[in-house]
Formats: sequence, structure tokens, C-alpha cells
Amino acid sequence: MPESRPLPSVQLNAVSEADSVQPSDVLVIGIGQDLAIRDSVKVADDLTGGAIGRMIGSGEISGKKGESLLVPGGASGGPDLILIIGTGEQVDRGVAFEVAATAIRQIAKRERRRIVLAIDGTSIGDVGDAIVAGALSGCETQAIYQTGGHAFFPPASIDFVGLTQTQIDRGRVIGESMNFTRRLVNEPASAVYPESFVSRVTKHFAGTSLQIEAWDEHRLESEGCRAILAVGQGSVRPPRLLIIRHQGGPQDQAPLALVGKGVTFDSGGLSIKPSEGMVDMKCDMAGAATVVGVMKAIAELKVPRNVIGFCGLAENMVSGDSYKLGDVIETRSGKTIEILNTDAEGRVVLADTLDVAIQHHPGAMIDLATLTGACMVALGNEVAGLMTNSDDVCRDFRGAAEAEGEPVWQLPMFSLYDEKVKSKVADIKNVGEGRWGGAITAAKFLENFVGDTPWVHIDIAGPAFVDSPLPHRDAGATGVMVRSLVRWIENS
Ligand code: BES
Ligand code: MN
Ligand code: ZN
Repeated sequence: MPESRPLPSVQLNAVSEADSVQPSDVLVIGIGQDLAIRDSVKVADDLTGGAIGRMIGSGEISGKKGESLLVPGGASGGPDLILIIGTGEQVDRGVAFEVAATAIRQIAKRERRRIVLAIDGTSIGDVGDAIVAGALSGCETQAIYQTGGHAFFPPASIDFVGLTQTQIDRGRVIGESMNFTRRLVNEPASAVYPESFVSRVTKHFAGTSLQIEAWDEHRLESEGCRAILAVGQGSVRPPRLLIIRHQGGPQDQAPLALVGKGVTFDSGGLSIKPSEGMVDMKCDMAGAATVVGVMKAIAELKVPRNVIGFCGLAENMVSGDSYKLGDVIETRSGKTIEILNTDAEGRVVLADTLDVAIQHHPGAMIDLATLTGACMVALGNEVAGLMTNSDDVCRDFRGAAEAEGEPVWQLPMFSLYDEKVKSKVADIKNVGEGRWGGAITAAKFLENFVGDTPWVHIDIAGPAFVDSPLPHRDAGATGVMVRSLVRWIENS
């Protein structure tokens, strides 16, 4: 594998309103649908000799969310160009993130030196860090192996008007953590496999406050993680379990647990996927990569809470050693599972990973997994599915996701679904009955391994990795749920 390009490293500065009129390549201003002439709009209007005001008057500028217009900067000595970007009806955190990302992606189509971002002038409320995170996220694409012929130039530095250093610092942490998650996911499976996932993360966290523990195949064996080993046994890349600890709270405080599905490539195994279904399956470790991104963020933000991340890492491949249909596995918990489809491997890996997690007696646990195509059938590409045994924890998490503007929707966990994962041979089977309710039967399988720990399962099969770009993000890995999880942890 060649080396991918380095992660964007952007200098981020807090500047004053007066800096907007200094020389720059592009000055970005936000205009809401109310068409209010905020300070930054006034500045841009003055710079252009009233042209912006006239365009608002004529309806050329409507303030609709995502509308963007590049105009000449007017007077010499100021910005060369002004990018006017619509912020819609209300600038909440989700909109702030997306608008900033959209602006940067527009600007990055050509090489720039100095960019000044004045999306909401000096009147920015608690969305400042979301603007910064969005701007950074706009600097990363999936084109990480393109040589020459550049069509994308992330700026070396961005000046933010009206933001505090605290907002910038926090936004940088969130944006860089999301980009770290996205890069892990966008890397092909021949670059990121269980062992290299561990070594990349270990290297990145060296010298930080995070403590890392990695179980190799021998330790997995002695720990009884036969389910993780079974999924990985068809691959020449042996499985791993990665444990990342953040000790932000008092010794005796029960930790929160984050658990991620880390199938570094999902061929389907002997229940092999067709080529169209396999093509993006480097993304099947997005749950684990999300756990890593969140751990990075909360460590850098020094969140005063104990949190442990668990990544179950295996490659699901086809070989003479692959686990087989009809196999029965005694999981680490002692429960037996019958394998009726080797492509339902995520829940098998998670069975052992969740079992390790609950032995740390977490006060609450959230797992993330690109688990089922059925969840995408139910909710589409942009929405994550939530399934839970604890309405309290689920409500808290939904609140965090709503505050960050990341769409989630809860699916029911009625006990009538329990029957659907009962096996005639073992305790449970790894597929439900037929295709119906596939996201829920997968969650019902997982529920067998969480004991009485309050738990939320997030199926991110849809939003973790997407086919087509949007104005605010490239196609490929999205870093979805990093923002929501950081907020949930901070609020817990
Ligand atoms: N990794 C897939 C789910 C997936 C599909 C994620 C598309 C992202 C995009 C998972 O391991 C899988 O193959 N699930 C099967 C389960 C079935 C065999 C019960 C599925 O959804 O078809
Ligand atoms: Mn699969
Ligand atoms: Zn999978």
C-alpha cells in the first residue's frame, strides 16, 4: 500500500471584526433567511460599496441554508473574494457545523493562503466550536491517495472572527478527532487490519493520558474470546481486542463503556457477498474507529469522567480455515451461538467484546456498529438506529444527538422479537427469521451479552459511510456520532 496523504493540519486563529477588512484571499460571511444585516454582513456590504445590500434587496441572496455565492471583494487592500453563505432559519450547532464545512469545501477548490471566516459575526452563541469543527471536517476528503492533478486544497490557516480561544480549542479537538476516525475508515483494508489498527492507534496515543491495552490472538484464546477468533480465523490477519482507558474521574467512579464493531473487511465469509455488496466493506470497522475518535476527543478535552473504549477487531474472509455455517461457538460469556450466516459476523465479534466490557462494571454502555443493511432499509442512509434496554440512557443519548444535529431514530425492542434469535441447536442463532426486522433481531442477539448493564446499541450502517457527497462533506467516511457521543459523555 502506498502512503496516504497526511491528515490536514490547519492553523486556527481567533481574530477580531477589524481583521475582516484586512487583506485575505476569501472572507466568508453568513446570511440568515431573516436577511438581518449583522456586523459581518455590514462589513462585507461596505467593502463592496453596497453591492451585498443590493443583492439582498433584489433577492439574489436569499439566506437559504447552504446557498453560496462568491463575489469580488471590492475595495483593494481587503479580501480578494467574499463568499456569502446562507445559514437558513436558525443557526443551531448542526447547521453551524455544516455551513462552515460547506464554506471551506467551496474555497478549497483553489489554493488559498488566508481565509477569514465570519459566519455569524460577533453574535455567536454556543455554536462557535461547531463552526470550527465543521471547518476542519471540510478540510478532509476521501481522496487520500490522489497524486497530482489536485482538485482540493485545504487551507493552511483559517481566521475565525468573533470566536473565543476556548471555542477554537474545543472545535479543533472535535474536528481533528472526527477526521482521525474518518481517515481510519477511508483507509483500505490492506492498510487498516486488526494489527495495524492497533499499532496506528497506539502510536497516535503514545504520550497522551490514554492507557492502551491490546489483546493478541493468544490472549484472546486464554480469555475465551472464541467468537472473535472464529470470525477472524479465515484471515491471515489475526484478530485483536483493543482497550482504551480514559481516567478523567475519581478512582471509584463507575466508567462509561464504548464498544465498537471493528470488522476491518467484511467479505461475508463463506456466505460471501456479491461484489456490489463488498465494494465498500473496508468501512465495517467504523464503529471501532468512532470509539477511537471519541476517546481521543475526551482525553484532549480532559472530560472529568471515567470512560473505557473496547474495539473488537477481526477480518471476515474466505479460506479453508473460515468459520462455517452450522458451527456452534461457545462465546466468552458461556452462551452458545449457532452460525447460520457467516455474513452476520458483526454481532458475533460484539458478543465477546460486550462481555469483556461489562466485566468492567460500566454504569452505562453504548455500542456502535455498521451492523445491518436492514437498518438502512428502515431508516435510510443519513439516520442511525438506536436500540436499547434502558429508556433512560437512550433518552439522554437522543438528547445529545439532537443538540449536535445528528439524526437518530429509536427502534423497538419488544420481547416478542426474542423468539426470533432462539436456536434449535444452541442458545441463540446469529440470524433472525427471514429478512424482516433485521436491525432489531441483530440488537436482540446483542442484548444476550450485556447482562443488566444499561445499554444503547447504535446501528450506523447507513450514516457511517456514504456513496455520494453533500455540500458539507465528501462521500466516504463521515465520522458520524463522534460529536453526539462526546456530548453524551460530558452530560453523563
Ligand atoms: N457489515 C454488514 C452490514 C452493512 C451493510 C454495513 C451495508 C454497511 C453497509 C453486516 O456484517 C452484514 O453483512 N449484515 C447482514 C446480516 C444478515 C446476513 C443477517 C446484512 O445486513 O445483510
Ligand atoms: Mn457481514
Ligand atoms: Zn459486517
